[in-house]
Amino acid sequence: MLKIVSARDYDDMSRKAANIISAQVILKPDTVLGLATGSTPIGAYHQLIDWYKKGDVGFSQVRTYNLDEYRGLSHDDPQSYHYFMRDNFFDHINIDLNNTHVPDGANPDAEAACAEYDKMVADAGYPDLQLLGIGNNGHIGFNEPDDHFSKGTHCVDLTESTIKANSRLFEREEDVPRQAYTMGVQTIMYARMILVVANGAAKAQAVHDMCFGPVTPQCPASILQLHPNVVLVADKEALSLCE
Ligand code: F6R
Repeated sequence: MLKIVSARDYDDMSRKAANIISAQVILKPDTVLGLATGSTPIGAYHQLIDWYKKGDVGFSQVRTYNLDEYRGLSHDDPQSYHYFMRDNFFDHINIDLNNTHVPDGANPDAEAACAEYDKMVADAGYPDLQLLGIGNNGHIGFNEPDDHFSKGTHCVDLTESTIKANSRLFEREEDVPRQAYTMGVQTIMYARMILVVANGAAKAQAVHDMCFGPVTPQCPASILQLHPNVVLVADKEALSLCE
């Protein structure tokens, strides 16, 4: 079942998403969270930091597994997703960094890095709650439009549109890594609850296709229609084609 929650704007979307994550962690302090990077969830992370500082929610027993990491970037590279997570979330809450996991982009052996990550996520019993952003082309994690749905963690070549979209975070477009390790669609579907956040008009088509289009690997997010417990929190612009 896919439930759509409409938010007024980015801040409202962020607070609503943070509320859902916070409720999950309050109800189950040793929650396994699947986490995403990108611009969209930053507001939710900052809201959770604020509530943590006020004493409303704690993360001491939480374990996290991020969706993806650029291949070739080490954990301390400022452009890595590992660094992003520390900078935007982990370094500001009481999480044990040993309980936070991101695929090892520094391991050039793609097969070994992906197999190791799959085992870690499986050993943790898969996320209780998986937070997802959505790409303009409907990608989730770095699972790009394709002729089949991916299974476990694997190495992908990023599409031109994703490289272009992500280049805003790099000095030059040619600095954007061309490959990434990402959890597969099947792994994402193993999460017991999925929370998708989306804002802005650029996401409107992808959000529409995710909720109402055919279930097809050409829009990887469309498979979420088959998941029993998905919540989409999106602002008016992202929902503009869903009326
Ligand atoms: C990030 C990720 C990506 C992003 C997506 C949207 O870990 O897996 O799928 O969620 O590219 O990115 P933003 O939020 O920057 O628009």
